[in-house]
Amino acid sequence: MRKQIAAANWKMNCTYQQGEDLLDNILGANIALADHRQVVFAVPFPYLIMANSEVADEPNYFIAAQNCYNKKSGAYTGEVSAEMLHSIGIKYCVLGHSERREYFQESNKMLAEKIDICLEYGITPIFCCGEPLSIREAGTQNGYVETQLKESLFHLADSVISKIVIAYEPIWAIGTGKTASSDQAQEMHAHLRSVLAKQYGPLLANNISILYGGSVKANNAVELFARPDVDGGLVGGASLNAEEFIAIIKALK
Ligand code: G3P
Repeated sequence: MRKQIAAANWKMNCTYQQGEDLLDNILGANIALADHRQVVFAVPFPYLIMANSEVADEPNYFIAAQNCYNKKSGAYTGEVSAEMLHSIGIKYCVLGHSERREYFQESNKMLAEKIDICLEYGITPIFCCGEPLSIREAGTQNGYVETQLKESLFHLADSVISKIVIAYEPIWAIGTGKTASSDQAQEMHAHLRSVLAKQYGPLLANNISILYGGSVKANNAVELFARPDVDGGLVGGASLNAEEFIAIIKALK
Protein backbone atom coordinates (compact mmCIF):
# COMPACT_ATOMS: atom_id res chain seq x y z
CA MET A 1 0.00 0.00 0.00
CA ARG A 2 1.31 3.46 -0.88
CA LYS A 3 2.23 5.83 1.94
CA GLN A 4 -0.70 7.38 3.80
CA ILE A 5 0.47 10.71 5.26
CA ALA A 6 -0.95 13.16 7.78
CA ALA A 7 1.07 16.31 7.17
CA ALA A 8 0.81 19.43 9.32
CA ASN A 9 1.54 22.79 7.78
CA TRP A 10 1.99 25.22 10.63
CA LYS A 11 2.59 28.09 8.17
CA MET A 12 3.82 31.23 9.97
CA ASN A 13 2.36 30.31 13.35
CA CYS A 14 3.55 29.40 16.89
CA THR A 15 6.32 30.68 19.09
CA TYR A 16 9.15 28.28 19.83
CA GLN A 17 7.53 27.21 23.12
CA GLN A 18 4.06 26.85 21.59
CA GLY A 19 5.51 24.68 18.83
CA GLU A 20 7.45 22.51 21.26
CA ASP A 21 4.36 22.09 23.45
CA LEU A 22 2.20 21.23 20.41
CA LEU A 23 4.63 18.53 19.33
CA ASP A 24 4.85 17.17 22.89
CA ASN A 25 1.04 16.99 23.13
CA ILE A 26 0.66 15.22 19.77
CA LEU A 27 3.57 12.82 20.31
CA GLY A 28 2.31 12.26 23.84
CA ALA A 29 -0.72 10.50 22.34
CA ASN A 30 1.72 7.69 21.50
CA ILE A 31 0.04 6.81 18.19
CA ALA A 32 2.08 3.92 16.82
CA LEU A 33 2.10 4.18 13.03
CA ALA A 34 1.96 1.07 10.85
CA ASP A 35 4.76 1.06 8.26
CA HIS A 36 2.57 2.49 5.48
CA ARG A 37 1.49 5.46 7.62
CA GLN A 38 3.55 8.62 8.22
CA VAL A 39 3.14 11.91 10.07
CA VAL A 40 5.03 14.97 8.82
CA PHE A 41 5.23 18.32 10.61
CA ALA A 42 6.11 21.25 8.32
CA VAL A 43 7.36 23.83 10.80
CA PRO A 44 8.91 27.31 10.43
CA PHE A 45 12.65 27.35 9.73
CA PRO A 46 13.72 28.43 13.26
CA TYR A 47 12.08 25.34 14.79
CA LEU A 48 13.42 22.66 12.43
CA ILE A 49 16.22 21.44 14.69
CA MET A 50 14.03 21.40 17.80
CA ALA A 51 11.25 19.58 15.96
CA ASN A 52 13.67 17.06 14.48
CA SER A 53 14.95 16.28 17.97
CA GLU A 54 11.37 15.84 19.21
CA VAL A 55 10.60 13.14 16.59
CA ALA A 56 14.07 11.54 16.59
CA ASP A 57 12.87 8.42 18.43
CA GLU A 58 9.40 8.29 16.83
CA PRO A 59 9.28 5.84 13.88
CA ASN A 60 7.43 7.23 10.84
CA TYR A 61 7.23 10.77 12.28
CA PHE A 62 9.17 13.33 10.20
CA ILE A 63 9.86 17.06 9.95
CA ALA A 64 9.49 19.14 6.80
CA ALA A 65 10.57 22.61 5.84
CA GLN A 66 7.86 24.77 4.30
CA ASN A 67 10.10 25.96 1.48
CA CYS A 68 13.64 26.13 0.16
CA TYR A 69 15.34 28.22 -2.51
CA ASN A 70 15.83 27.23 -6.15
CA LYS A 71 19.57 27.82 -6.03
CA LYS A 72 22.14 25.61 -4.29
CA SER A 73 24.03 28.36 -2.43
CA GLY A 74 25.34 31.91 -2.79
CA ALA A 75 24.40 35.56 -2.51
CA TYR A 76 20.69 35.13 -1.83
CA THR A 77 20.21 36.99 1.43
CA GLY A 78 17.52 35.52 3.65
CA GLU A 79 17.06 32.34 1.66
CA VAL A 80 17.51 28.73 2.87
CA SER A 81 18.96 26.00 0.65
CA ALA A 82 18.16 22.30 0.35
CA GLU A 83 21.79 21.62 1.32
CA MET A 84 21.22 23.48 4.60
CA LEU A 85 18.09 21.45 5.27
CA HIS A 86 19.96 18.24 4.49
CA SER A 87 22.78 19.27 6.83
CA ILE A 88 20.34 19.32 9.77
CA GLY A 89 18.63 16.05 8.85
CA ILE A 90 15.40 17.35 7.31
CA LYS A 91 13.72 14.71 5.11
CA TYR A 92 10.74 16.55 3.59
CA CYS A 93 10.06 19.97 2.08
CA VAL A 94 6.73 21.48 1.13
CA LEU A 95 7.07 23.22 -2.24
CA GLY A 96 4.71 25.33 -4.32
CA HIS A 97 2.13 26.10 -1.66
CA SER A 98 -0.50 28.41 -3.16
CA GLU A 99 0.40 31.09 -0.63
CA ARG A 100 3.99 31.11 -1.93
CA ARG A 101 2.83 31.08 -5.54
CA GLU A 102 0.63 34.10 -4.77
CA TYR A 103 2.76 36.18 -2.41
CA PHE A 104 6.19 35.30 -3.85
CA GLN A 105 5.30 34.69 -7.51
CA GLU A 106 6.66 31.15 -7.53
CA SER A 107 6.32 29.75 -11.07
CA ASN A 108 6.02 26.13 -12.16
CA LYS A 109 9.52 26.47 -13.66
CA MET A 110 10.99 27.76 -10.39
CA LEU A 111 9.31 24.88 -8.56
CA ALA A 112 10.81 22.37 -10.99
CA GLU A 113 14.23 23.75 -10.04
CA LYS A 114 13.42 23.51 -6.32
CA ILE A 115 12.26 19.92 -6.73
CA ASP A 116 15.46 18.96 -8.54
CA ILE A 117 17.63 20.43 -5.80
CA CYS A 118 15.63 18.80 -3.00
CA LEU A 119 15.88 15.41 -4.69
CA GLU A 120 19.62 15.91 -5.18
CA TYR A 121 19.94 16.21 -1.38
CA GLY A 122 17.66 13.29 -0.61
CA ILE A 123 14.78 15.49 0.52
CA THR A 124 11.25 14.38 -0.43
CA PRO A 125 9.26 17.23 -1.98
CA ILE A 126 5.62 17.61 -1.01
CA PHE A 127 4.55 19.35 -4.23
CA CYS A 128 1.44 21.50 -3.83
CA CYS A 129 -0.99 22.11 -6.68
CA GLY A 130 -4.55 23.34 -6.93
CA GLU A 131 -6.90 25.73 -8.70
CA PRO A 132 -8.38 29.10 -7.71
CA LEU A 133 -12.14 29.50 -7.32
CA SER A 134 -12.50 31.16 -10.74
CA ILE A 135 -11.08 28.06 -12.44
CA ARG A 136 -13.29 25.72 -10.41
CA GLU A 137 -16.36 27.81 -11.28
CA ALA A 138 -15.36 27.65 -14.96
CA GLY A 139 -15.02 23.85 -14.70
CA THR A 140 -11.46 23.88 -16.08
CA GLN A 141 -9.74 22.67 -12.89
CA ASN A 142 -8.50 19.40 -14.33
CA GLY A 143 -6.49 21.07 -17.09
CA TYR A 144 -5.23 23.78 -14.76
CA VAL A 145 -3.80 21.36 -12.19
CA GLU A 146 -2.55 19.01 -14.91
CA THR A 147 -0.43 21.87 -16.28
CA GLN A 148 1.08 22.44 -12.84
CA LEU A 149 2.17 18.81 -12.72
CA LYS A 150 3.48 18.75 -16.27
CA GLU A 151 5.53 21.94 -15.93
CA SER A 152 7.01 21.13 -12.51
CA LEU A 153 7.25 17.34 -12.39
CA PHE A 154 7.23 15.75 -15.83
CA HIS A 155 10.89 16.43 -16.51
CA LEU A 156 11.65 13.84 -13.80
CA ALA A 157 12.82 10.35 -14.78
CA ASP A 158 10.81 7.23 -13.93
CA SER A 159 13.38 6.40 -11.24
CA VAL A 160 12.67 9.68 -9.46
CA ILE A 161 8.98 10.46 -9.82
CA SER A 162 7.95 7.90 -7.21
CA LYS A 163 9.96 9.87 -4.64
CA ILE A 164 7.53 12.77 -4.91
CA VAL A 165 4.51 13.39 -2.68
CA ILE A 166 1.76 15.49 -4.25
CA ALA A 167 -0.69 17.65 -2.28
CA TYR A 168 -3.81 18.76 -4.12
CA GLU A 169 -5.04 21.92 -2.38
CA PRO A 170 -7.94 23.72 -4.06
CA ILE A 171 -7.19 27.33 -3.22
CA TRP A 172 -10.86 28.07 -2.56
CA ALA A 173 -10.81 25.50 0.28
CA ILE A 174 -7.66 26.75 2.04
CA GLY A 175 -8.39 28.46 5.32
CA THR A 176 -12.01 29.02 4.32
CA GLY A 177 -13.72 26.18 6.16
CA LYS A 178 -15.16 25.32 2.72
CA THR A 179 -13.73 21.84 2.30
CA ALA A 180 -13.90 20.13 -1.06
CA SER A 181 -16.39 17.28 -0.92
CA SER A 182 -14.85 13.84 -0.81
CA ASP A 183 -16.26 13.32 -4.33
CA GLN A 184 -14.50 16.46 -5.58
CA ALA A 185 -11.26 15.38 -3.92
CA GLN A 186 -11.47 11.83 -5.25
CA GLU A 187 -12.31 13.08 -8.76
CA MET A 188 -9.25 15.35 -8.92
CA HIS A 189 -6.93 12.81 -7.28
CA ALA A 190 -8.05 10.14 -9.74
CA HIS A 191 -7.50 12.58 -12.61
CA LEU A 192 -3.99 13.41 -11.40
CA ARG A 193 -3.21 9.73 -11.04
CA SER A 194 -4.41 9.10 -14.57
CA VAL A 195 -2.21 11.92 -15.85
CA LEU A 196 0.75 10.43 -13.96
CA ALA A 197 -0.07 6.97 -15.35
CA LYS A 198 -0.14 8.32 -18.90
CA GLN A 199 3.35 9.79 -18.41
CA TYR A 200 4.98 7.15 -16.18
CA GLY A 201 2.79 4.04 -16.43
CA PRO A 202 0.16 2.79 -13.98
CA LEU A 203 2.58 0.99 -11.66
CA LEU A 204 4.58 4.14 -10.79
CA ALA A 205 1.46 6.28 -10.72
CA ASN A 206 -0.15 3.94 -8.20
CA ASN A 207 2.86 4.32 -5.90
CA ILE A 208 2.67 8.11 -5.64
CA SER A 209 0.93 9.46 -2.54
CA ILE A 210 -1.54 12.25 -3.29
CA LEU A 211 -2.63 14.21 -0.23
CA TYR A 212 -5.68 16.46 -0.01
CA GLY A 213 -5.39 19.90 1.60
CA GLY A 214 -8.02 22.56 2.23
CA SER A 215 -9.97 22.74 5.50
CA VAL A 216 -9.23 19.16 6.59
CA LYS A 217 -10.69 18.76 10.07
CA ALA A 218 -11.23 15.97 12.60
CA ASN A 219 -14.88 15.75 11.45
CA ASN A 220 -14.19 15.28 7.73
CA ALA A 221 -10.84 13.45 7.64
CA VAL A 222 -12.24 9.92 7.86
CA GLU A 223 -14.54 10.44 4.86
CA LEU A 224 -11.85 12.19 2.82
CA PHE A 225 -9.08 9.69 3.60
CA ALA A 226 -11.33 6.71 2.92
CA ARG A 227 -11.50 7.60 -0.79
CA PRO A 228 -9.24 5.32 -2.86
CA ASP A 229 -7.02 8.02 -4.38
CA VAL A 230 -6.80 10.23 -1.29
CA ASP A 231 -3.65 9.23 0.59
CA GLY A 232 -3.98 11.51 3.61
CA GLY A 233 -3.96 15.25 4.05
CA LEU A 234 -1.93 18.42 4.25
CA VAL A 235 -3.50 20.24 7.17
CA GLY A 236 -3.24 23.89 8.11
CA GLY A 237 -5.43 25.34 10.84
CA ALA A 238 -6.49 22.04 12.39
CA SER A 239 -2.84 20.96 12.76
CA LEU A 240 -2.31 23.72 15.33
CA ASN A 241 -4.74 21.99 17.69
CA ALA A 242 -3.29 18.81 19.20
CA GLU A 243 -6.65 17.10 19.71
CA GLU A 244 -7.79 17.85 16.15
CA PHE A 245 -4.56 16.69 14.56
CA ILE A 246 -4.43 13.52 16.66
CA ALA A 247 -7.90 12.66 15.32
CA ILE A 248 -6.72 13.39 11.78
CA ILE A 249 -3.72 11.09 12.21
CA LYS A 250 -6.05 8.34 13.45
CA ALA A 251 -8.17 8.82 10.30
CA LEU A 252 -5.39 7.56 8.01
CA LYS A 253 -6.36 4.34 6.25
O1 G3P B 1 -1.00 23.43 3.36
C1 G3P B 1 -2.23 23.15 3.99
C2 G3P B 1 -3.07 24.36 4.05
O2 G3P B 1 -2.98 25.14 2.90
C3 G3P B 1 -4.53 24.04 4.35
O3 G3P B 1 -4.95 24.99 5.26
O4 G3P B 1 -6.22 25.77 7.21
O5 G3P B 1 -7.43 25.00 5.11
O6 G3P B 1 -6.27 23.32 6.59
P1 G3P B 1 -6.30 24.75 6.08
